Amino acid sequence: MQTKKIIVLISGDGSNLQALIEKLHLPKENIGASEIVLVISNNADAYGLTRAKDAQIKHLVISSDTDISPLEYDALLTVQIEKLQPDLILLAGFMRILGKPFVRQYGHKMLNIHPSLLPKYQGINTHQRAIDNAEKEHGASVHFVTPEIDNGPVVLQAKVPIFDDDNVAELSARVHTQEHLIYPLSAQWFLSGRLKLNAGNAELDGKCLAKDGYAPD
Ligand code: GAR
Repeated sequence: MQTKKIIVLISGDGSNLQALIEKLHLPKENIGASEIVLVISNNADAYGLTRAKDAQIKHLVISSDTDISPLEYDALLTVQIEKLQPDLILLAGFMRILGKPFVRQYGHKMLNIHPSLLPKYQGINTHQRAIDNAEKEHGASVHFVTPEIDNGPVVLQAKVPIFDDDNVAELSARVHTQEHLIYPLSAQWFLSGRLKLNAGNAELDGKCLAKDGYAPD
C-alpha cells in the first residue's frame, strides 16, 4: 500500500497539528501508512512551524502579509499541492478564507476543524459568543470544506459543557482537548477510505452521515 500523503495548513499555535503529527506521522505503526509531507503557514510567526521543524517535517510560509490578491494566494498554495499530490489536505487553525475555485478543486479531500457545534457559531470568537449566549454546551466540528465558509458536511463533533464561571481560556482549552481526538480520527477515516464526500454528503462506510456527523447511539 502506498503511503498516504497529508498537507496541513496552519496559522498559529498548531496544537491540532501536533495531535496530527503524533497520530498520523510519528507512530511506528504509522510508518508507511501516512505521512505529513508539508506544513504551510500563512503566518511566519506561527508556533506550529516550530512543531513541524521539531518533527522534521518540511514546512514553509506563504505569507498573507503581502498585497497579493486572494486568487494569487490560492495559486501559490496550488503550486505546492500539485507538486506533492497529497491524499488529504487538513486545515488546522488556518485563519484565511480560501477562494471558491480552490475549494471546488480540492474540497473532496480537504477537511477543517472548527471550534463550535456547527451550524452554530460559524466564523470567529466562537467561545466568547457561546459564553455570552449562556449556552450550556459547546464543542468542535470536523467538516469537509465547501465554498460556503464553515458550512460543509459535518463528519464528527465533540461536545463539552460550559460551566457558569467559565472564561474563554478555560472553554477553549476544553474544546482543544476534544479537537485533538476527533481531528486525527476523522483524518484516519478518510485515509483508510472509510470517509468520503459523495454528491455533497459526508459518507462513512458507504452511509450518509447525519447533519451533526457520526453519532453512535
Ligand atoms: C482551533 O481551535 C481550531 O478549531 C480553530 O483554530 C484553533 C487552532 O488551534 N479554527 C478555526 O477557528 C477555523 N475557523 P491550534 O493552532 O492550536 O491548532
